Amino acid sequence: MPTQFQGKRALVTGANKGIGFAISQGLLAAGFDVILAARSIDKAYKAIEQLQTSNARPLELDVSDDNSIHQAAKNLSNEIDSLDVLINNAGIYPDKGVNILTVSRELLNQTMNVNAFGAVQVTQAFLPLLSKFRNARIINTSSGYGQLAGLSADVPSYCLSKLTLNGVTIMLAEALQSQGIVVNAIDPGWVQSDMGGSTAPRTPEQGADTAVWLATEAPANLTGKLFYERREVSY
Ligand SMILES: NC(=O)c1ccc[n+]([C@@H]2O[C@H](COP(=O)([O-])OP(=O)(O)OC[C@H]3O[C@@H](n4cnc5c(N)ncnc54)[C@H](OP(=O)(O)O)[C@@H]3O)[C@@H](O)[C@H]2O)c1
Repeated sequence: MPTQFQGKRALVTGANKGIGFAISQGLLAAGFDVILAARSIDKAYKAIEQLQTSNARPLELDVSDDNSIHQAAKNLSNEIDSLDVLINNAGIYPDKGVNILTVSRELLNQTMNVNAFGAVQVTQAFLPLLSKFRNARIINTSSGYGQLAGLSADVPSYCLSKLTLNGVTIMLAEALQSQGIVVNAIDPGWVQSDMGGSTAPRTPEQGADTAVWLATEAPANLTGKLFYERREVSY
């Protein structure tokens, strides 16, 4: 079924499972061609098999590894000449048995690298593809744990990484405004996934909905904001 998004292209990181997979499904349903990026090409292929579509392509991309990011950008640039949407979704939640009084520098570095600095480096690497036309959209999967009121001493590296990702969202929005590229973040809520666990109240589809909305129907003048259930919420 042709839609207004037919022929548009979106790249989703951490797309092989959970919320990233559901975002990919939502974008495919809206008519997008979707590049499913995963840490290994096998994981990306397996996810695409489940989707049973000819409108998805796999990409190997580890967001914590600059070589992987640059190779992925090079590989994709050989296949396509522009990108309309980038979803920085990949993330980890490794805070088990630590708090702000015990967390190591190593754990802080690891989580920051994936959850926050990964989004910065991936955005930089794919910017040449995103800048081909005006009106590209970048969406960062943040968390309620990144809001000032949501910070928890028992979830140290994750909270700090999502707080930083919110800062990244504000700064990228400012830096890309003149190019007509909008940048926003979402809090998907507590979602059933390997990260959220099976007792979470929300489905991956519910968690994905606001990202899909920001990529498609949201007013194009919204930028630098954080959204939960399609509504702006405070940082
Ligand atoms: N679930 C929740 O309740 C919840 C709440 C708020 C925010 N979030 C955020 O939502 C996003 C998706 O989480 P989820 O619940 O869908 O978790 P998930 O099921 O654990 O999926 C996380 C995804 O990120 C990928 N990933 C991890 N490290 C990566 C790296 N270095 N490079 C590339 N990909 C990497 C994982 O790949 P592998 O399969 O290779 O590990 C996987 O595809 C995350 O940013 C998370 O922080 C989740």
